[in-house]
Amino acid sequence: MHPELEISFVTSRQYAGQPIFNIFPQFSCLIDKKFSDFDVDKIAASSDYAFLALPHKQSMDVAVQLLKKGIKIIDLSADFRFRDPAIYEKWYQKHIWHSYTVNAVYGLPEMYREAIKKADLIGNPGCYPTSVILPMAPLLKAGILDITSIIVDSKSGVTGAGRSLSLSTHFCEVNDNFKAYKVYSHRHTPEIEQELSICAEKSVNITFTPHLIPLSRGILSTIYLKFNKDVGPDEISEIYSSHYRNEPFVRVYPQGSLPETHNVRGSNFCDIGFEVDPKANRLILVSVIDNLMRGASGQAIANLNLMAGLPEKLGIDSIPFFP
Ligand SMILES: NC(=O)c1ccc[n+]([C@@H]2O[C@H](COP(=O)([O-])OP(=O)(O)OC[C@H]3O[C@@H](n4cnc5c(N)ncnc54)[C@H](OP(=O)(O)O)[C@@H]3O)[C@@H](O)[C@H]2O)c1
Repeated sequence: MHPELEISFVTSRQYAGQPIFNIFPQFSCLIDKKFSDFDVDKIAASSDYAFLALPHKQSMDVAVQLLKKGIKIIDLSADFRFRDPAIYEKWYQKHIWHSYTVNAVYGLPEMYREAIKKADLIGNPGCYPTSVILPMAPLLKAGILDITSIIVDSKSGVTGAGRSLSLSTHFCEVNDNFKAYKVYSHRHTPEIEQELSICAEKSVNITFTPHLIPLSRGILSTIYLKFNKDVGPDEISEIYSSHYRNEPFVRVYPQGSLPETHNVRGSNFCDIGFEVDPKANRLILVSVIDNLMRGASGQAIANLNLMAGLPEKLGIDSIPFFP
């Protein structure tokens, strides 16, 4: 639905040769294209930008082939999100294109808008990290948090695991169920810590526990924080307001109003709410995103808009579709 973009090439190995609407009938009469096998020369002849929605490791090689042909890349995998290749290699696998990570920009417009505008290669942020970094960045920059006791408890819908079949995403495994997984060992932990450390200007470590819930799409993160001094709700509101007042895709609720995944479903918004618990001197943040939009494709299009000099909201200013 983007008024300035045309889809020129869509790759798939499994579906090459088939019309897109055969696999995704919701695009009938909207996209008259077939899936094709990956062909770097054909893509280079027809495209200026490429979105890579491939597994980690596959992405880095494809990205470099396309970059060498002058195509600008928005990569949805983790391959270009890390500033330190050693951290990527510890949590993922060997990185064969270190030299390209140096110029890659982490694609979170609220933090890196000006760099994104000049970038050829974007490491589009992960879904959980987007839901955690946006509510925490302004508070860390303001220096009001005790960074030694950050607990992040996130819940994700099943599309966060991708479309490929796996036992853990079968209907009977997920429906009517709620479970934690990869406690303290999820791969999004170092990505979150990287960006929070930049905001705090010192090393930040978090305890991150993700959960799977029986939703198709949506992430809700609850973040438990301690202050390093006396801070009241008005000051929190003021910090958020000064950071996000003019941001098109971040909405901060008044204290005591908490966001729900329904409120952002199908949109590029990140909604943030907070409560101060005076008894425990604790700040509790609640953030929600649609993992497929703000956590992936919507944010990718915002990045392309910035790279192309277009208005950031173009094509992604949809109203959340509740109910
Ligand atoms: N799902 C989310 O909420 C989300 C959010 C943020 C970021 N991401 C990231 O975005 C990327 C895509 O995610 P997804 O959820 O769309 O995953 P997905 O459903 O698993 O899709 C990945 C696609 O890549 C292709 N593929 C798989 N193995 C391949 C290989 N060895 N070589 C080339 N192509 C291969 C497959 O298509 P064919 O077999 O048809 O070629 C597959 O459908 C991942 O890196 C993921 O981590 C996902």
